[in-house]
Amino acid sequence: MKAIVLREFGGPELLRLEDLPDPKPAPGEILIKVHSVSVNRTLDCVVRAGKYPVKVQLPHVLGADPAGEIVEIGSGATKLKVGDRVAVISAMPCQKCGRCLKGDEGNCVDGKRVGVDLWGGYAEQIAIPVRYAVRIPDNISFAEATVITRHFPMAFNLLVSKAGIRPGESVLVMGATGALGSSCVQVAKMLGATVIAGAGTDERVELAKSYGADLGINYRKHDLANEVMRLTDNQGVDVVCENISDPTLWPAAFASLALNGRLVTAGAHGGGTVALDVKRLYMRRLRIIGAAGTNLADVEKALDAAREGKIRAIIDRILPLRDAVQAHRIVEQNQIAGKIILDPTQK
Ligand SMILES: NC(=O)c1ccc[n+]([C@@H]2O[C@H](COP(=O)([O-])OP(=O)(O)OC[C@H]3O[C@@H](n4cnc5c(N)ncnc54)[C@H](OP(=O)(O)O)[C@@H]3O)[C@@H](O)[C@H]2O)c1
Ligand SMILES: [Zn+2]
Repeated sequence: MKAIVLREFGGPELLRLEDLPDPKPAPGEILIKVHSVSVNRTLDCVVRAGKYPVKVQLPHVLGADPAGEIVEIGSGATKLKVGDRVAVISAMPCQKCGRCLKGDEGNCVDGKRVGVDLWGGYAEQIAIPVRYAVRIPDNISFAEATVITRHFPMAFNLLVSKAGIRPGESVLVMGATGALGSSCVQVAKMLGATVIAGAGTDERVELAKSYGADLGINYRKHDLANEVMRLTDNQGVDVVCENISDPTLWPAAFASLALNGRLVTAGAHGGGTVALDVKRLYMRRLRIIGAAGTNLADVEKALDAAREGKIRAIIDRILPLRDAVQAHRIVEQNQIAGKIILDPTQK
């Protein structure tokens, strides 16, 4: 099969199309003909650059979120059948640690991830354990399924499990046109919140309104906290979906929280070290909550919402697998309005 192989860490030009042996499904596994896999800022570009905090073995095949059609079933993998359209759940808990054995797989820290610890979906085929495949609803394309299973489960995790959002609450979403940000905007709306989109240009603020944000602020142009207070009758927002950790943006995002507010985050690509106003934290009874990884329940929530048309995948463009170099450059240069998808079936 053809696959994009990384043999040394560095720039996008190191992604090379090569011939690899076809994978065979082991017992309990299925073989998927990949139709779609997305290019993510952290899991693809940062891993490729060799800057990911977890060690990645070379040679490596990237691709955390393949979706495609089952073409072969390993012995015992009877949950699904040949021809089923499936997406892959990237995080594969270890099934051995204390948390896994208690059924708390979402908090396993010894698991493996497709595209990081295991070879991923930048390939014509991938074999994975059947338990980490989910069937895609008929009304959703492979590319949409890739985006929906990749980003929306984390949005549900952040807003429902971590922030405990209630209808009628207000939410500020930072980076509101990013992959995770645009998912958070849509999920917060679906859950009955009033959503303020924060983004770095006027165009991106308008874009976020096109998929549901009620209000918007260009945080590179305006004083974010002042604007949030103005828009919320001086109360602030109940929840901030932060996910950036940019030292120049964090203080204002934090200062935008209402009494008893919750700031949730699953990302630090903006730097990771920020100043924290601890007096404000305790005086206003605030909470900062981190999240990493998702579980099957979040994936199912996301697919159900997509099936019912309550959320939609925002896709910038679909490129053939052999254009992985170009795809990485586009993502790194921030030239996108939605996800870049690679399709190994496109010649
Ligand atoms: N996607 C997921 O499901 C998921 C899961 C776990 C963790 N994460 C983490 O969540 C974060 C967002 O991921 P993503 O896939 O949504 O990324 P993305 O699509 O690239 O979006 C990131 C957004 O951050 C904003 N931003 C603000 N300051 C920035 C800075 N200094 N540098 C770069 N971007 C900046 C950008 O919007 P403006 O230019 O408009 O400000 C951009 O839209 C990442 O840290 C990722 O590791 C994501
Ligand atoms: Zn475990």
